Amino acid sequence: MGTRAETYAGPFYLGEKAVITHGGAGGWRAASNLEDVINAVQSAAREALSENSLEGMLVKAIVVLEDSGVLNAGLGSVLSIDGKLTMDAGLMYDDLRAGGVAAVTYPRNPIRLADWVARNLYHVLLAGPEADKLAEKLGLKRHPGPSERALKRWKELLEQVKNGKGPEWARKMASLLFADTVGAVVLYNGRLGAGTSTGGVALKHPARVGDSPIPGAGFYVEKGVGGCAATGIGETIILGRPCVYAVELLKQGLPVEEAARAAVARHTALFGSDNLGIILLNAEGYAAAAMNTAGMPVGIAGNKHEAKGFMLLRREE
Ligand code: GLY
Repeated sequence: MGTRAETYAGPFYLGEKAVITHGGAGGWRAASNLEDVINAVQSAAREALSENSLEGMLVKAIVVLEDSGVLNAGLGSVLSIDGKLTMDAGLMYDDLRAGGVAAVTYPRNPIRLADWVARNLYHVLLAGPEADKLAEKLGLKRHPGPSERALKRWKELLEQVKNGKGPEWARKMASLLFADTVGAVVLYNGRLGAGTSTGGVALKHPARVGDSPIPGAGFYVEKGVGGCAATGIGETIILGRPCVYAVELLKQGLPVEEAARAAVARHTALFGSDNLGIILLNAEGYAAAAMNTAGMPVGIAGNKHEAKGFMLLRREE
């Protein structure tokens, strides 16, 4: 299945306390800062492992990724076509608590606001200026505004588009150059959580919301089975729901690496390649990552596993 072979890594046995993180599926092969990126995903996994609750682990992993400044989330978020910064984030726990925030601009760490929604509201998703007002009222740290790197990328991309050479917004190749969303899946005391955070796809339409704040799209967990976080072109992820499919395959008894590979292969068959990466962790503490893009940075940590982060790179065919 699939027009181009998916690439995967795993299984990694992490233990009963486990974290897997990613820094976004995309065209990483050409990036100049791969070392910083791999450090960011591995630091996020390591720092999350030292937390002592499921919620603490998940939020810590994503906050570290948002604060890294080298990934497309939080401080490093890419910009919309109009040069503005709007972010999406969401998370889910295996007791069916979930929270998401969409198109927010105020919080430095949108995942903290999503976590507050999951803990305090019956609603699942909040969007726009009123969500920003809530973040301010809660005393969350304010986002300092677009990073220099994001502004530089935005200007370059816009120039290319103006000259008719570059990408049109939301076309998959253009988006994928800059679709380095972040995500994490954690296991603690037999319980699972998963979440994602992003600045969205570069040059997106104002008000566009992707998969990252939506449970069942950007992330999904099922009690006693497993959890998954996705990255890539949000429009395909909302429609294809690869995380739900991957967790369903775990439920049917597939090993974690097979489930991850098959979920990406199905997605490729539906939408073509260069649009998806996933990380998957099962309830037994086995993790895997798979993608149909050029690369995806992955971090892993567990009480039974000492590992370095790595860049998963597409095999040449
Ligand atoms: N997967 C991130 C986005 O499409 O916004």
